[in-house]
Amino acid sequence: MTPSLAEERLLGVIPELEIAVAAPLIQEIEELKRKHNAIVLAHNYMTPDIFHGVADLKGDSLALARLAADTDAEVIVLAGVHFMAETAKIASPDKTVLIPDLDAGCSLAESITGADVRLLKERYPGVPIVTYVNTSVEVKAESDVCCTSGNALEVVESLGVDRVIFLPDKYLGQWVASQTSVEVILWEGSCMVHERFTAAELRMYRDTVPGVQIIAHPECPPDVLAEADFVGSTAGMIDWVHAEQPRQVVMVTECSMADNVAADAPNVEFLRPCNLCPHMKRITLENIRDSLLYGRYEVEVDPAVAHHARLAVDRMLAVSARPRAA
Ligand code: 13P
Ligand code: SF4
Repeated sequence: MTPSLAEERLLGVIPELEIAVAAPLIQEIEELKRKHNAIVLAHNYMTPDIFHGVADLKGDSLALARLAADTDAEVIVLAGVHFMAETAKIASPDKTVLIPDLDAGCSLAESITGADVRLLKERYPGVPIVTYVNTSVEVKAESDVCCTSGNALEVVESLGVDRVIFLPDKYLGQWVASQTSVEVILWEGSCMVHERFTAAELRMYRDTVPGVQIIAHPECPPDVLAEADFVGSTAGMIDWVHAEQPRQVVMVTECSMADNVAADAPNVEFLRPCNLCPHMKRITLENIRDSLLYGRYEVEVDPAVAHHARLAVDRMLAVSARPRAA
């Protein structure tokens, strides 16, 4: 029997028994997308059934912010976490932005509030505030400019100042500080997924697999990054694998990403230290279908707060060169 379009997308990506379960859901989602003029915008950490099965556009946080601003669709289902959906709404205020599970949060976004940023501004008057997009709309609204892991260094250096406050990821901030002469004042935030990797486990891979390449996300602690051959955003890591075609690679980031990239890189063997993001994993084919079926959960942002947040996001987009989606 000829495979359906949904089955074709997943052949060789997930086991055949799982395809049988996923294919009808994918078909339902495709029909709902057509009915509502909707698209699914998916982060690179989505599971392969979502990433290869229903995502219309996919990428890292930077690409998702740009793609949300550019799409002609009326409805965006953000298959990712809440701050990504909020950023899409800030970038595209006239569109309906849906997130399939409201509890898909982020440990970094939870580490800081708008009131914290106001206190920092009092303590360091005149020092520009560079804020990672993994934050709430209130925190972005108090900031001078946003950044992502893909452009943090570029954004910090674009300001032409000696000192910046960098919020909230201390490890990304430390990585930026290690690459620039700009003094970086840090906040005590971290990613619950990337802080669990250790330098010892990476050395174990190096010792047991001669020639293995190690690539890491800059949310990892400094001793982990010191073991890496390449440090980059999720899209940066994907591009690196496709360009370098290493024989064996360890991707030091959320583990669904290796599954997604492996499907498109048959000559590369992926060694998989696996830390899952519990927030990203809240998004499923079932709740994407329900999100389109019932119009839930709509992301709303206070227009006045969103206006200020948008300025910080737009400044970032103006600094950074246009990336391509993964
Ligand atoms: P990227 O912008 O690199 O995709 O990272 C987002 C994220 O949440 C990493 O944990
Ligand atoms: Fe947040 Fe870390 Fe999950 Fe990314 S992986 S969404 S930074 S908790």
